[in-house]
Parts: sequence; structure tokens; C-alpha cells
Amino acid sequence: MKILLLGSGGREHALALALAPHVEALYAVPGNPGIGQIENAQCLSGDILNGKDIVEIAGRTNVDLVVIGPEAPLVAGVADDLRAAGIPVFGPSGAAAKLEGSKAFAKEVMALAEVPTALARICTTREEAEEALGLFPAPYVVKDDGLAAGKGVVVTEDLDAARQHAFDCIDGGGSVVIEEYLDGPEVSLLCVCDGKTVIPLEPAQDFKRLKDNNEGPNTGGMGSYSPLPWAPEGLVDEVLERVAYPVVRELERQGTPFVGILYCGLALTERGIRVIEFNVRFGDPETQAVLPRLQTPLTEVLYAAATGKLHQLEPLEWDPNAVVAVVLASEGYPGKLKLGVEVADMVGLIHAGTTWKDDRVVTSGGRVAAVIGHGPTVAEAREDAYTKIVPFEGMQYRTDIAAGI
Ligand code: AMP
Ligand code: GLY
Repeated sequence: MKILLLGSGGREHALALALAPHVEALYAVPGNPGIGQIENAQCLSGDILNGKDIVEIAGRTNVDLVVIGPEAPLVAGVADDLRAAGIPVFGPSGAAAKLEGSKAFAKEVMALAEVPTALARICTTREEAEEALGLFPAPYVVKDDGLAAGKGVVVTEDLDAARQHAFDCIDGGGSVVIEEYLDGPEVSLLCVCDGKTVIPLEPAQDFKRLKDNNEGPNTGGMGSYSPLPWAPEGLVDEVLERVAYPVVRELERQGTPFVGILYCGLALTERGIRVIEFNVRFGDPETQAVLPRLQTPLTEVLYAAATGKLHQLEPLEWDPNAVVAVVLASEGYPGKLKLGVEVADMVGLIHAGTTWKDDRVVTSGGRVAAVIGHGPTVAEAREDAYTKIVPFEGMQYRTDIAAGI
């Protein structure tokens, strides 16, 4: 099998590492230096937001499957162009990707499918936002309706800051979702879907805030681990039954079947599970912690999903050992970045925001890389991860990823 993978982040490097051993050739557009170092992988240039471009590259490379990593090409409808050209693709249509592209749409689907989530108001004027902030007590949760790379959400005790973020979203011409605060541990459950059948991967936990003790601004994610030894028994089945299947059936009913990863971001509250958000692709950095544990060839899983055959797949096999991923970020992340900094030794790291400059690897994004630790327990995997950190100028990372688990 030959595969074309779209994207350039840490998630894509982790996907490439999982896919490459089972394929004849792996092409990545645009890929990154880490992917480029994989023996049978090749990075190609191209615009991942341009469906025509991607169809042309898929044809030229004669691939059997296209795997779309990031949300932006999905929301832009690149999967639709590939399907129209008869090329199997792992990733939802533009219409189904609205589940991530619009938080308001996700709320509508959840209401129709009776999926438990935070009570929310969708506001398009300052007056509506003001009223909504009065409805839900602090901490205030204010979310940009559209895509914001995990950084459009403000959770704060400070009413002025909440109001300011809401007004900024509205004044920018968009709408804003204001909702009740959900208290409880978070779980990311990535579910493989083929439009009808849903197969869950093992749950993971992600650390969204920039700083230790969950302080500082929200980021794309500063670390992750899997499995979750503390997760209540039956959690995965409950999420399938109350969240993933109802959503997949609702989207099928709407004529926009969901093929790809339905990422369920959940809070385990005292009143039960609640959906915090959906994403329509592999989580980053959850993927870096989950995929090294998957023993079933990922190619088989994604190809079965892309061709509507998940029901024929044998149950997934998992390595019981733990994996911990710690993200190394650039100075200034998630704000204004200092880039172009040399990273001396990237051996064994997952590349996320790196690029070649002459023959050196330099930083090119907010999240630069992740170190991956393995061990029989989360504590041992965590220890292993932290021994692998390679410093670079201005590097930021959390010291408490998976601590105390
Ligand atoms: P989202 O992009 O919707 O996942 O939000 C980013 C992060 O903000 C989540 O992972 C949570 O940590 C936090 N968050 C979002 N919505 C809520 C909520 N209703 N209650 C508490 N925390 C939230
Ligand atoms: N780690 C959160 C995300 O992928 O959106």
C-alpha cells in the first residue's frame, strides 16, 4: 500500500511512524524534517488547503489512501475533492468537519442527538454575550465559534477578561459560545469512524494550559499520556453509547456521514460525562502517546474506515505499557514566537515545528517537538520522557505532565 499524509506537525510525525512500517511508500505534504528521516517516507511540497493540488499529487504518486492530519484542510473540504476523484480518504467531509469548525454547529448536533454537554448560549451581539455571562456563574467559559488552534477558548474567574474575549470574537465578525463551567478530570477519546461503525482508541489525557498546575493560557496541548489507570470502568463503552454513536447516527441522518477520527473531549463531572468539544482528527499531542501503544497495523484500521469496512476489523490490540509525551515549545508560545532557533539533537524526538535551514534543524512553530517516554507504568514512562529533553534557546515545557498518576 502507498499512503499520502497531509500535515506537518507532531501528530503527523507520530502518524508517519505508525504507518511507515506497513507501507511500500509514505508521501507527506508538506511533512517535516522528522518525517523526512523515515526510511520509506518522502516529503513533497503542495498546498494542503487546495483540494485540486492534493488530488493531483495523490494521482501522481498513485496512492491507495490519503490520511488528512489537521483540521484546516478537512474544514476546507479537501476530503470531498479526493472522494469525488474516487480516492479513498481517511478524514471527514467539509460538512461533517463543521463539528470542529463551528462550536455552535457542534452544540446543535449534540442537542439533536441528546449528547450530554455544557449548557451554552451562542451569541452574536455584545448584549447577548453580556446576558449569557450573567447566566452562568464563574469560572466563565468563552469560546470563539470558529477554528482557533486550541487557543480560542478563555476560561477565567475574571469577568472583565471573559467579557473582553467575547467582545473580541463578536467584533471580529464571528459568534461566540458562552457556557457553563465543567468541573472534573478531562479525557480525550479518539474514535475511528467509517460513517456507521465506531472503534475507540485507548483514552488519553492532554494538558492544555501552558504552565505547571494548569496555569497560564490555553495552548494546543503541552503533553499527554496513555493509558489512564484511574479512568472509571466502563467509561469507553459509555462514551460510545452516549456520545460517539449518537453523533455518528445524527450526521448520517443529516446526509453527511462521518469518516475519520471523532475526537471526543470529555469532562468527567460529578453529574456524569459531559462533552467539552469535538475535533474531527487525531488529537495533538494525544496521538503521540496513543499510537505507539497500538499493535494492530494503523494502515489496516484507517483503510478499513476509509472504505466503510470497520465492522470487518478484528478487535484492536494494545501494548499495556504506558507512553508519556512532553511538548517542548518555543519562546513566546502561545503568543508571539521567537523562531529560527537551532535545535542541536533531535534524535528520537517527535518533530512538530521544525524545519531545515541549510543542514541544521531550526524551530519553525510554537510547539517544536515532543519527547516520548515508555515504561510499564505512567510514572516510569514519565521519568523516561523527562530524561530525553534536549534544551534549545528559549525552550518552554511543563514539568508536571502525567505527574502523580
Ligand atoms: P476546547 O477548545 O473547547 O477544548 O477548550 C480548550 C480547553 O478549555 C478544554 O480542554 C478545557 O480544559 C477548557 N474548557 C473548555 N470548555 C470548558 C468548560 N465548559 N468547562 C471547563 N473547562 C472548559
Ligand atoms: N490536544 C487537543 C487537540 O488536539 O485539539
